[in-house]
Amino acid sequence: MTLTSERKLIIAIDGPAGAGKSTIASRLARKLGYVNLESGAMYRALALKAIQNDVSVDEEAPLVQLARNSWIKLEPTLGGNRVLLDGRDVSQRVREPDVTDAASRVSVHPKVREWMVEHQREMGVGGGVVMEGRDIGTKVFPDADIKIFLDADPVIREQRRLTQQHAKGAAAEILSAELRERDRRDRTRAVSPLAAAADAVKLDSTALSEDEVLQRVEELVAKKLAGS
Ligand code: DC
Repeated sequence: MTLTSERKLIIAIDGPAGAGKSTIASRLARKLGYVNLESGAMYRALALKAIQNDVSVDEEAPLVQLARNSWIKLEPTLGGNRVLLDGRDVSQRVREPDVTDAASRVSVHPKVREWMVEHQREMGVGGGVVMEGRDIGTKVFPDADIKIFLDADPVIREQRRLTQQHAKGAAAEILSAELRERDRRDRTRAVSPLAAAADAVKLDSTALSEDEVLQRVEELVAKKLAGS
C-alpha cells in the first residue's frame, strides 16, 4: 500500500466523542506527513474565553463579538494540537469538564459556527490536512478528497472516555451523563448537527482495534492517491 504522493489531500474525519477520531486522525496525519487539525479545540478555546470574560455561552451576539476579538490558533504537535488563545497555551485547560460542557453550548450558535468554519477553511485550504470534528465533511470541506464518519456503540464510547479519564464511581456516572447530554446537543442542534455526509465512508469502531480502523482508512487513502 503506497501512501506517498505529491498530491496533498484534504481528509475529513467526523463523528461523536469517543469514537476514536483524534487518535486515528493524529496517527494518519503522522503517517502521511500531513497536519492534523482538531476543529473541536477551537470551540473549546472560545468557550474558555467566554468563561474567563463572564460572557454567557447561551447568547450568540456577545460570543461572536468575543470570537472576532480572539486569536485562536492550533499548532499540530506529535502529541496532539497545541491550542493557543490570545498567545497563551491553553491546551490542558480546554480539556477540563467545564470547558467541555461550555464548548458544546457555544457550538449551537449559527454565527459562531460561521466564524469557526471560515477560519477552519483557511487552515486547511492548501491540503495535506486531516481535519476532525463534527461538520468537516458536511460544511467545512464539502469537497474533501476523503470523508470518514467514525462512529461506535454509545456504551463503548462511554467506556473509552471513562478509561481515558480514569473515572470511577460517582465521577464516572457524572461523566457518562455529560457525554450523553453533549451527544444529544451535538446531534439535535438546528445548524450543522452531527451527521454523516451523504458521500462519507462510515466506519464503526465498536468491534475494531485502533490499528484495524487505521488500516481501513489507509486503504481509502491509498485508493484515492492511486486515482480511483
Ligand atoms: O471534538 P471535541 O470534543 O473537542 O469538540 C468540542 C465541542 O465542539 C463538541 O461538543 C462539539 C463541538 N464541535 C462542533 O460543533 N463542530 C466541530 N467541527 C467540532 C466540534
